[in-house]
Amino acid sequence: MSCQHYDLVEGGAQSFTVAMPKYTFGRETLSEAGVRAESNGMKTVALFTDPQLEQGPYVATVKESLKSRAIGVTVFSDIRIEPDDATVMEATGFLRGGRFDGVVSVGGGSVIDTAKAAMVYALYPAEFTDYFGSPIGAGKPIPGPLLPHLACPTTSGTGSECTSVSVIRINGLNTKFVMGSPYLLPQEALVDPTVCDTLPGNAIASTGFDLLCHAIECYTAKAYTRWPNIDNPIARTMLQGSNPWSDMAARKALEIAGEYLVRGVADADDREARDSLMFGASLAGMAFGNSGTHLPHAMSYGITHLMNDITTDGYQVDSPFIPHGISVVVNAPAIFRYLGGAAPQRHIEAAGFLGAEHLDAAGEEAGEVVSERIIELMKATGMPNGIQELGFNKESITSLAESSARQIRAINNAPRVASRQDMESIYDEALTYW
Ligand SMILES: [Fe+2]
Repeated sequence: MSCQHYDLVEGGAQSFTVAMPKYTFGRETLSEAGVRAESNGMKTVALFTDPQLEQGPYVATVKESLKSRAIGVTVFSDIRIEPDDATVMEATGFLRGGRFDGVVSVGGGSVIDTAKAAMVYALYPAEFTDYFGSPIGAGKPIPGPLLPHLACPTTSGTGSECTSVSVIRINGLNTKFVMGSPYLLPQEALVDPTVCDTLPGNAIASTGFDLLCHAIECYTAKAYTRWPNIDNPIARTMLQGSNPWSDMAARKALEIAGEYLVRGVADADDREARDSLMFGASLAGMAFGNSGTHLPHAMSYGITHLMNDITTDGYQVDSPFIPHGISVVVNAPAIFRYLGGAAPQRHIEAAGFLGAEHLDAAGEEAGEVVSERIIELMKATGMPNGIQELGFNKESITSLAESSARQIRAINNAPRVASRQDMESIYDEALTYW
């Protein structure tokens, strides 16, 4: 295989590893849950979902399918959007209290990530931050395999069904952090785009920008060859920098976002667009699960850390809440202006996949081309015009940068490493775009 468009670097990694769940995509495939759980040896499963989905048709389909194969099902649905350590520990207690031999998750990223983390603490009890990385955690590796996990996403954004990470809010620190381990990867992903048929346009928009940012961050991430080589290949984190595999998935996901995001938001009956976005979300998950995101995700954590009394219309969430995709994309135009000059060719290519014009730009201008295209898509889908519209102002900037500066791994995965001062300038530029 010719991977030598990635220049080898002295002392840098010379190989990359790809991890993927067994993957099934198609309408009505949720009805395959039973036979797929059975093929993974499950006889008594813990089914994780959220309170709204628990009452709806998708969970009913999955339960019926499991029961048709004589598989016992017990539901845990006390999962909030943006799950925190309290949610995870409650779910952990639920898992410990049953004799489960498998887990099925039906929900968005919050549900799938809670299922992953709960299995970790149920099987390998520890201080909560032990399995999170520096600077907030001890960075201990998850010791061994979890239960077989069949992940069934119900939004077209998270990609968590295809990743080996779990993102959890840690209340004591009032911010989210990432736990990563190859053991967190579900054994199977069952992706049924039927679940998007009834989602409102604003949910398709915010999750769609999560998809878009996963993909563009992977495509523009630091090359895997620029991460230090490690002695023990088994210890390699899947957040390993851009590589030929993640490039392939990210490229297709960007093309899907460029072609279908506006259509999928505007028209719930546009099945081609919504089904494509669902597949694109998985592709972007396959990409970032094998390369890692960078600055837009790192800087989203400051936004969700400091959102205080901010709420978002159209969501049944009573606590302060900004949808994850919005918290990520709202800084993205300013970030790509900052990053473009560090990897101009990559940024121009990514902009082209998204359907941008002016692809003859070079150097620093490459970031501007990406930004222009993202702003165009934000305008067309009703995204907020910068962080000021979310309720932040110039006085917020120091705290935002201070909070996000803790996301060290993600910051270091960008083609240019942002200092706290750089992040302050980016947040300042992200106040308003148009
Ligand atoms: Fe994300």
